[in-house]
Amino acid sequence: MTEKRAQFATRLGVIATTVGSAVGLGNIWRFPFEAGVHGGGAFLLIDLFFIFIIGVPVVCAEFIIGRHTGLNVRGAFRVLAPGKPWGIVGYLGIIASILILSFYSVVAGWTLEYIYQSLTGFGGVSSIAGLHSQFDGFATSNWRPAMWTLIFLAINYFILARGVQKGIEKMSNIMMPLLFVILIVFCINSLRMPGAAEGLSFLFKPDFSQVTPSVMLGAMGQAFFSLSLGLGCLITYSSYFKQETPLLRTAGIMASLDTLVAILAGIIIFPAVFTFGMEPAAGPKLVFEILPSIFMRMPGSMLWSVLFFILLFLASLSSTISMSEITIAYMTDEFGFSRRKATGCNIVVAMVLGTLCALSFGMISDWTVCGLTLFNLFDYLSSNIILPIGGMIISVFVGWVLDRSVVRRELMTDDGSVRPWMIRLVTICLRYIAPACIGLVFLFGLGLW
Ligand code: TRP
Repeated sequence: MTEKRAQFATRLGVIATTVGSAVGLGNIWRFPFEAGVHGGGAFLLIDLFFIFIIGVPVVCAEFIIGRHTGLNVRGAFRVLAPGKPWGIVGYLGIIASILILSFYSVVAGWTLEYIYQSLTGFGGVSSIAGLHSQFDGFATSNWRPAMWTLIFLAINYFILARGVQKGIEKMSNIMMPLLFVILIVFCINSLRMPGAAEGLSFLFKPDFSQVTPSVMLGAMGQAFFSLSLGLGCLITYSSYFKQETPLLRTAGIMASLDTLVAILAGIIIFPAVFTFGMEPAAGPKLVFEILPSIFMRMPGSMLWSVLFFILLFLASLSSTISMSEITIAYMTDEFGFSRRKATGCNIVVAMVLGTLCALSFGMISDWTVCGLTLFNLFDYLSSNIILPIGGMIISVFVGWVLDRSVVRRELMTDDGSVRPWMIRLVTICLRYIAPACIGLVFLFGLGLW
């Protein structure tokens, strides 16, 4: 630890990397399918509540811990609360980040397959039914999805082994703006479809009769997942922040852009779902079945489709890189592993679990726990259980245990843009609102009460 800790070079770099971590398959793949399963508008509304009322303060809490200590998640709690059990967040974070990395890489592998399919014109198939059965055939075909999962993880290895600034920051700076532009083009395209009105009303008109405790739990999990929250991923990233980085503003911009991308993805997907007469509750395959049908109907379809899947692949990559960074920072800081060795360990474990997740659509689809395949189990366990528990511990820690003066000093900026009432508001959320909401949603959502 004598070496000076790496830092993000520029303000734009900080925004691009945190947004790069937040924006990924969680917005473009997971949000539409979860919203589809849970009834649309009401899910979106509850998701927004969790993102802005609970998510943003907890993001600030992670930033405070990370920048204040300049350490990985385990190390941060070791320094702040030596000998106390708070550090359990560190272990939860490391376990859950590897679980997420495993199933996430399977879906990122699907994007690689689709880049290939787009280049080869989807094998000449153009009917909607044909495209859907082609996806089903692919996802259940065992070796091919597994191969793409492994290729995706290998790409992660090469980028991660190069280190923080050179790899992550440069890529995010270019990719994020491009992703926004292309999403807007696709939105305009979807808004001109015959099913646009029905799709938009599904997405934006809340039907509260659909809201059950499990919808609340799903929305909370989605909010945490999408903000990369609860595992110490943002603790790790903010340990690379400079002292001048404004934490509140960064958290606000990150949550807003993240939400914007999810809503844009909804505006792209749902009009198409109703235009093509599909079922919104189709689950994880929804987005991958719909997208090719959308592109097929655009002039220059191959170009759009290749460009979109390349960007989706890059967005996934900037998210998986942030997940892996949790474990890599832990191993290099705490055990003195070289970056290469730490990266290697992380990726090899993810390769084994990721292969199992890929096969859980085919060969081992009957390996289930409580009716969930391995893929769904990893997602449910990490997103709906571990992330909110981690978020709750972090918010209680910063709200009640961490020294007030540290919280104030980290949140204050020199230019006076942060007022004392803002800090008070964040503190109230962390002390009372976040723990109470997370606790209640758990009790009801898991049927404990
Ligand atoms: N937020 C990312 C997405 O929406 C996924 C992600 C990256 C994540 N890092 C994380 C989720 C850490 C939980 C914890 O795609």
